[in-house]
Amino acid sequence: MPVITTNNTIDKSLDVQNENNHKDDSSNLMVQLRSVTKTYANGVNALVDVNLSLKKGEFLFITGSSGSGKSTLLKILYGEELATQGEAIVDNCNVAQLRGDSLSLLRRRIGIVFQDYKLIPQRTVTENISVVLKAQGYTRKEIQRRLEPTLKLVGLLSKANYFPDQLSGGEQQRVSIARAIVATPPLLLADEPTGNLDPDNSWQIMQIFRKLNSFGATVIVTTHDENLVRRCDRRVVKVRDGKVYQI
Ligand SMILES: Nc1ncnc2c1ncn2[C@@H]1O[C@H](COP(=O)(O)OP(=O)(O)O)[C@@H](O)[C@H]1O
Ligand SMILES: [Mg+2]
Repeated sequence: MPVITTNNTIDKSLDVQNENNHKDDSSNLMVQLRSVTKTYANGVNALVDVNLSLKKGEFLFITGSSGSGKSTLLKILYGEELATQGEAIVDNCNVAQLRGDSLSLLRRRIGIVFQDYKLIPQRTVTENISVVLKAQGYTRKEIQRRLEPTLKLVGLLSKANYFPDQLSGGEQQRVSIARAIVATPPLLLADEPTGNLDPDNSWQIMQIFRKLNSFGATVIVTTHDENLVRRCDRRVVKVRDGKVYQI
């Protein structure tokens, strides 16, 4: 299996790909779901004929009550689940057609944040963040170069050597955001990132997402916190019984 050793190699291959698609009208889209239906093996229709487009650089909230289909929608975008019908196009790639290395390459261009942080307990903040870069073959120098600005962005420079259990929930979520963005992916997906946090911490997390979006990242955040969505004043869609409604 070929191993990609430097970030440059990845970036160059994707630049070529983007250039080739430049004349295509859809090339300014980061995400396109076309008539996507997802039926799980047990017969549950988690998504029904969903159409959704997101331009590069957009910020989108996906709201909807528990069980409405939000996580399934994100999973289809990063290839964790396959659509039963329809197509998911992410960064000009048809996700269902990607296998092995090409799926890994796409996933490297997607940062993912979960409700439950998923940090490694025995590793420090710095180690938790750099684990992704190490796995992707970044040099030690490049890892160092990326760590400081990332820690600064999430406000954790002074806690770089703490372990997860020495941090508050909000701080742990900020570590997981740092881990998701340290390789500067153009697309950031966050699945109920504030689900375990109080309003102040939730607001802080949203400020970080908004800042990343202002730097050019495309951001999708699922949440059932209607207040937070209202305060943020960004595009919102609602999922109900597997259907997506523009609101
Ligand atoms: N792996 C799975 N197998 C079967 N059903 C699932 C699976 N994952 C989710 N579901 C069902 O699909 C529906 C949508 O779930 P989900 O996308 O997790 O919703 P949300 O994230 O909005 O809470 C729910 O009815 C849920 O029970
Ligand atoms: Mg969910």
